[in-house]
Amino acid sequence: MITLTKRQKQIYDFIESYIKKRGFSPTLEEIKKHFRLSSLSTIHQHIETLANKGYLAKDDNLARGISLKERASDLVMIPLLGTIAAGEPIEAIQQSESIAVPKSKIPTHGEVYALRVAGNSMTDENINDGDVVLVKQQSVAENGQKIVALINNYEATLKQFYQDRKGIRLEPANKSFKTITIQRDQELAIQGIVLDVIKSGGEIKENPTLFEEEIKRNKTLPINQIICGDAISHLQRLPDESIDLIVADPPYNLSKGNNIHFSNGGGLKGFGGEWHKAMEGWDNLPLLDYFNFSIKWLREAKRILKPTGSILVFGTYHNAGIINLVFQTLGVEIINEIVWYKRNAFPNLAGRRFTASHETLLWGHTGIKKRRYYFNYKQSKEYYDPSDLLKQKGKQMRTVWDIPNNKESREIKYGKHPTQKPLSVCKRIIALCSQPGDVVLAPFAGAGSECMAAKESGRQYIGIELDQKYVDIANERLRHADNQQPLFKQS
Ligand SMILES: C[S@@+](CC[C@H](N)C(=O)[O-])C[C@H]1O[C@@H](n2cnc3c(N)ncnc32)[C@H](O)[C@@H]1O
Repeated sequence: MITLTKRQKQIYDFIESYIKKRGFSPTLEEIKKHFRLSSLSTIHQHIETLANKGYLAKDDNLARGISLKERASDLVMIPLLGTIAAGEPIEAIQQSESIAVPKSKIPTHGEVYALRVAGNSMTDENINDGDVVLVKQQSVAENGQKIVALINNYEATLKQFYQDRKGIRLEPANKSFKTITIQRDQELAIQGIVLDVIKSGGEIKENPTLFEEEIKRNKTLPINQIICGDAISHLQRLPDESIDLIVADPPYNLSKGNNIHFSNGGGLKGFGGEWHKAMEGWDNLPLLDYFNFSIKWLREAKRILKPTGSILVFGTYHNAGIINLVFQTLGVEIINEIVWYKRNAFPNLAGRRFTASHETLLWGHTGIKKRRYYFNYKQSKEYYDPSDLLKQKGKQMRTVWDIPNNKESREIKYGKHPTQKPLSVCKRIIALCSQPGDVVLAPFAGAGSECMAAKESGRQYIGIELDQKYVDIANERLRHADNQQPLFKQS
């Protein structure tokens, strides 16, 4: 279903009444003037979105080239009350926004409201992070219905409802999440049942402070833990300015449109064995969804980062441009773009392009007014590892790091991740951009390389990872972390 935000509906209504009065459409300039906006590009963006959503057509060659496709009177505004967790329950929050939805989607009886979904526990029911659900307010549900559940009058969550002789279960629609069993001493209030889902794709959010306003922050940090769950929901719970260093290895969106099944049972050097681009669910988002996803987690990352801290994000050409754009949009100042050169990259099989042999690391900080981020310049200059053919001892470290993508056997002893980072690259970042005792956060922890590097370097860590399988590997690795390992090889 395609809906309009309040502003999109206002613009649609203005165009409709303008055309009714004059018989032709307004120019972008006239729309801008009517809404007292300073930039034409905002109007342009709204018109694009309305056209993409099928509400109007436009001819870019004409100054008055807009025509309507759907009648505004067929739409109805309903309240968008806030965010609902599809993952771990979060504190129930309310805010007032509204969205326009087709009248046909609203039942003739009863109250309907909308909630934006945070988390991925309902993905098997095609309810994804960032989607909006339409909810009919009611206090009873049948088995199997998707409900908005309020636990102990405090935590709200979106789950499937089941009741039998043993009691009430709230079940996720994603195997990585646990069923919630309502205990005797817990109170459950059904707030409504889900009628429909509005997909987030293509929607440009008008209220960038949505998440910041919604969550009352909890004041403690889950130090030295790998949390199983969605990065955005868990980042939202962390207090402002509490983290010293974020090392993020997000999904690169590599699988997008790509059907390559690249199985390597033989153990490819540099890839830690089983490397398969097998359309991983978490690595296969439409472009705009990936953009929105990046905005959301990076907005939270910026909020929780200390002004003295910094963030480094791994990427390839698939996502690095988006991360760079989001940094700049959010006001995260870019310090360097580092090229991690992988001398031993796997050869290009088809021979139709150059052999991809690097990844990038975008390094940014948030203490913009006065640059206060930590950088161990002395150590970066002294750094010497004979396996890096580009770095000379006593010379400044450059932005190209020559680090073979090999994993030592101890790195893969307890299991592997298809895109596992070698400890050596993580340790170099941590050694130069944080201090002993600092808190290092890995929001996409995978098999735990960043957390392991932090632990072995005398830092504290927090990892977040969606997939329980990788959380288990990470925990096992961390249990066997060796604090005696040198930060990097010395000459
Ligand atoms: C590129 S891998 C990280 C690999 C990691 N650097 C390592 O060395 O093992 C990205 C990880 O992010 C996880 N992931 C994807 N979407 C996520 C989300 N919304 N929240 C938390 N983790 C997510 C995936 O399950 C995957 O393990």
